[in-house]
Amino acid sequence: MTTYEQMQKKLLTEPKTWLVTGAAGFIGSHLLDALLQLNQKVIGLDNFATGKKRNLEEVRRHLKPEQWGRFTFCEGSILDPQLCQQSCQEVDYVLHQAALGSVPGSIENPLRSNESNVTGFLNLLVAARDQKVKRFVYASSSSVYGDDPALPKVEAHIGQPLSPYAVTKRVNELYANVFSINYGLESIGLRYFNVFGARQDPQGPYAAVIPQWVDAMLKHQPVHINGDGSTSRDFCFVANTVQANLLAATTTNASAINQTFNVATNSRVTLNELFKLLREQLLPNHPHVQQCKPIHRAFRPGDVLHSQADISKAQSLLGYSPTHTLEQGIGTALDWYRAESK
Ligand SMILES: NC(=O)c1ccc[n+]([C@@H]2O[C@H](COP(=O)([O-])OP(=O)(O)OC[C@H]3O[C@@H](n4cnc5c(N)ncnc54)[C@H](O)[C@@H]3O)[C@@H](O)[C@H]2O)c1
Repeated sequence: MTTYEQMQKKLLTEPKTWLVTGAAGFIGSHLLDALLQLNQKVIGLDNFATGKKRNLEEVRRHLKPEQWGRFTFCEGSILDPQLCQQSCQEVDYVLHQAALGSVPGSIENPLRSNESNVTGFLNLLVAARDQKVKRFVYASSSSVYGDDPALPKVEAHIGQPLSPYAVTKRVNELYANVFSINYGLESIGLRYFNVFGARQDPQGPYAAVIPQWVDAMLKHQPVHINGDGSTSRDFCFVANTVQANLLAATTTNASAINQTFNVATNSRVTLNELFKLLREQLLPNHPHVQQCKPIHRAFRPGDVLHSQADISKAQSLLGYSPTHTLEQGIGTALDWYRAESK
């Protein structure tokens, strides 16, 4: 039995209370789903800045009524300190996902990004400390590696951030560390690398590349590649990210506490390769995608050129073991993308 399977078994017999911020968002809704399936009690906090009511509805639809009955949703912002305090009351574990996740969005409006991602983060950290939660797990990002060219990325070596968004995620890590030193608050930061899966919005100017391209291909629309397509990424299926969160919250390994961990698969594909992979997977049911050719345009400021995670720290200290490769993840998510694209 894997560490993850053992932990899930334990949670089923000893249920806990969890706060998931950003619960109506892409990753947050998957955390909610996984926790409710394990019969946990969950509080969700979201202001629908980018999250959607239909994400919550989708989770509700495939759960048993008694599982959904263990969920309490709180509509509001992490910019409200009192609401953060209320939401943390009698909570064992916080999984903090709420943030404005867009790199270009943060370049356009750094104040807005700082407000949600730094001030909001700090509000929640203070609340977690005051309400004595057992552990505070939060979403950091591969963007903290910034201009460091080394590959694969190892947690101890980061570069200069390349966007206001990256600064906010680095500041999160610094604050979490300071709260551990000064107040003894246990935290774990998870540096996500390009997460993808169902419920990731394909629309809008800041849409992530996989849902955006699939949507464009299905609708006979042009697929744009920023740069020459040699840019590479370690794409991580959302189920792997859920696993990392649950392991981080429940680990009893003292060496894992107050650490940051890469969450990805330690593989890397270029955008040109990704384009071909998506086209191949869609081809059997959508022969028209054979004609689809990418259009290259300018490289996007703030983006890093290459990204690949060394995941050995998460493997050895948390027992993290990704269940899905990029191909398996796309195969699993494709039905949702197809339904979404109609
Ligand atoms: N998706 C990725 O590839 C990726 C990569 C690295 C890091 N992350 C981080 O993971 C977390 C989740 O990202 P996601 O992809 O699910 O994005 P998302 O936009 O789908 O989810 C974020 C959620 O936070 C909510 N939110 C934003 N500001 C809020 C506020 N002030 N108060 C309450 N709720 C607020 C939004 O409404 C949304 O539901 C974010 O912290 C993001 O920075 C994501």
